[in-house]
Amino acid sequence: MDIKQSKILILDYGSQYTQLIARRVRELDVYCEIYAWDADTQDIRDFDPQGIILSGGPESVHQQGAPTLNEVVLDLDVPVLGVCYGMQLLNVHFGGEVMSSDDKEFGYAQVQLTESSDLFKKVKHTELDVWMSHGDKVKQLAPVFTASAKTSSTPFAACHHNDKPIFCVQFHPEVEHTKDGRDILSQFVHDICGCERLWKTANIIDTHIENIREMVGSEKILLGLSGGVDSSVVAALMHKAIGDQLVCVFVDTGLLRYKEGDDVMAMMADKMDINVIRVNAQEQYYSALAGEADPEAKRKIIGELFVRIFEKEASKLDDVQWLAQGTIYPDVIESAGAKTGKAHVIKSHHNVGGLPEDLSLKLVEPLKDLFKDEVRQLGVQLGLAKELVYRHPFPGPGLGVRILGEIKAEYADILARADHIFIEELRRHDLYDKTSQAFAVFLPVKSVGVVGDARRYEYVIALRAVETIDFMTAQWARLPYEFIELVSRRIINEISQVSRVVYDVSSKPPATIEWE
Ligand code: XMP
Repeated sequence: MDIKQSKILILDYGSQYTQLIARRVRELDVYCEIYAWDADTQDIRDFDPQGIILSGGPESVHQQGAPTLNEVVLDLDVPVLGVCYGMQLLNVHFGGEVMSSDDKEFGYAQVQLTESSDLFKKVKHTELDVWMSHGDKVKQLAPVFTASAKTSSTPFAACHHNDKPIFCVQFHPEVEHTKDGRDILSQFVHDICGCERLWKTANIIDTHIENIREMVGSEKILLGLSGGVDSSVVAALMHKAIGDQLVCVFVDTGLLRYKEGDDVMAMMADKMDINVIRVNAQEQYYSALAGEADPEAKRKIIGELFVRIFEKEASKLDDVQWLAQGTIYPDVIESAGAKTGKAHVIKSHHNVGGLPEDLSLKLVEPLKDLFKDEVRQLGVQLGLAKELVYRHPFPGPGLGVRILGEIKAEYADILARADHIFIEELRRHDLYDKTSQAFAVFLPVKSVGVVGDARRYEYVIALRAVETIDFMTAQWARLPYEFIELVSRRIINEISQVSRVVYDVSSKPPATIEWE
């Protein structure tokens, strides 16, 4: 079975929601890819989509140099859905007019369906709650279009072509707040484009396993296991595909979560019977980092040491031909965007996951066509613990960026224990999944406290918890006072080297999520 046989192409005009469109289409069990709006015409033809979605975008069609419509979109003669900027573009293309306006419409809006349209066939009512995010709007509809929805501020909230399967919506069906968004997208993808539901977790696993087997044959694969979701899923998938031909190297940096090294071994080596070499490099890390207080220098030391240790382990395994990496689809999109200068968001973080380039191994990246949600679903289906698969993100340099200033073994131990208490209580109080990322930070300053009759002069722990969708902006989490009080009491009572706990109430921006 070719699970990518039915597919949708999404052309990216720069909206913050473009990846969300792709995730929604995938959730409808249909494969899709995102190309830049000015992608090569032949590449678009070669992709051979069954339908095309034009995303929204921050620009105005009137601006000089604004993104344009590639005629191939219409030449392919497949159904097209224009969202927001996509709608304006199609309208102008067919002879309509778009008006720039200063009063941007952002947030909830009520849309009234005015004319029957194939796109809204699954919607059972005429009033829809939708999410709007635009400045420009259609002033005069192109003659080939019929309006099918309006709001109080525009008579053209949606329209369709009179003869062809071309549809436009001013609002964002991909955003959760648009209540009927899923039905609208399903109508487009399944009914109008005729895509089959082939992109399902079980099929994805089967196909990826088949591909891995075909690719590597009887050769051996090396994988750097970090304890994170992506590399764990790669390990589980590879193990299922090729068993003992997979060799994992797990470097314990001494900057991991509480007892994480043992947990990784228990899960991967003992329970799943995966071939894992554990390297206890804690002392090596602490001595390489001794005396260094500069955050960027620390990141660099941690990253480089990882590469050195990994290379050394790899050189001991002389019969390995492949290197597996946990690259996922958003990484691919971002680095493609970075190359063409079109990425809105480029992470410049130096990652511990960054691997040596001159290992002269062939590269296999089995998750590179998957979104994070899909990777997680695969993980659960492959038998990984839900707790691991749905864990908050953890930075590559680990506790290294959460111990402010110089890193010492003693600090790492205090921090890991405090962090463990915080996370344990979050889970116990059903708050873990309600925060996007939560952790403790070690502050190397001493403060006075009294325990019983004794005064003590010990370190400070800061608690950090945020809510965010994309980690580019974040709100500090409004955790209940009683909860923070409980965590604070436990940390001070159970860790004698801590005399004070503070809670971080800074949002991003202007602060960042991590403290370094
Ligand atoms: P900031 O602190 O930049 O964090 O607001 C945004 C997200 O990125 C993670 N982060 C890192 N991840 N290596 C990583 O792999 C790093 O050096 C690094 N620094 C921050 C952070 O945990 C948050 O999820």
